Amino acid sequence: MMEIRIRQAQIADVDQVVDMDSRVWQSYPTTHECIISRITVFPEGNLVSIINGKVVGYACCMFFTKTDKLLSWDQLTENGTIKNHDPNGKDFFGVALTIDPDFQQKGIGMRLMVGLGAILVRHGIEFAYLGSRIPHYHLHSTKYPDPKEYVEALDKRKRLLDPELDFYSKAGFTVVSVVPNYIDDPESLDYGVIIETKNPFFLLKLPRIKFLYSFYERIWNWLGLRMY
Ligand SMILES: CC(C)(COP(=O)(O)OP(=O)(O)OC[C@H]1O[C@@H](n2cnc3c(N)ncnc32)[C@H](O)[C@@H]1OP(=O)(O)O)[C@@H](O)C(=O)NCCC(=O)NCCS
Repeated sequence: MMEIRIRQAQIADVDQVVDMDSRVWQSYPTTHECIISRITVFPEGNLVSIINGKVVGYACCMFFTKTDKLLSWDQLTENGTIKNHDPNGKDFFGVALTIDPDFQQKGIGMRLMVGLGAILVRHGIEFAYLGSRIPHYHLHSTKYPDPKEYVEALDKRKRLLDPELDFYSKAGFTVVSVVPNYIDDPESLDYGVIIETKNPFFLLKLPRIKFLYSFYERIWNWLGLRMY
């Protein structure tokens, strides 16, 4: 059994994060400057997963206040730099989630989602949003010319047809809107799907009192470690 450690990303991790990112996002790699900017702007919002001292996953989030405008990922994240992170923002936005191709589908993505969830709970934020890719849409666009139908389509096992949306639905997210020209991603035909989830402690109607948030976070981490 591999021991996976999740911790805050440091500037010393940037080379490894960029190397991994360039193998995952071959046509859209993230630069050193971009990751350094994220870690500098909001250190707490950058997480890495480590196996045997090696970075095998990276996640980043920021705070903002959602509006009804359909914005692209570049607009939402200031070209991925998160220089527009608002410490007083009412909402949480998932900026990036990348797992080393050699370590995908081993539960590491879900562990990083638990880590991001801890940030949401710690700060007492009610709603989390992120823009999911739909990487299998190019395979099914003839059958589902309307992407809104594709994002609801199920496979034979009654799971969401798109594996990435299926991943996020397992993490408790539901679809809000489908945004054209969200990201330069031929597999998703440039669509992004804005998805949301709610702070589980607020869903349970537990008191919204700041000094309780660290207690909620401990419960969240305890449950997360047992589930994933
Ligand atoms: C999507 C991603 C973050 C998921 O992380 P992961 O560590 O591979 O996923 P986990 O092992 O935690 O979860 C596996 C689940 O994810 C889903 N999934 C994600 N990608 C999948 C794929 N290519 N094929 C099948 N299932 C996939 C399935 O629901 C799977 O559940 P199962 O094991 O019951 O079949 C990771 O595959 C990745 O980095 N992909 C490329 C970059 C990317 O698209 N990032 C998201 C940006 S929005």
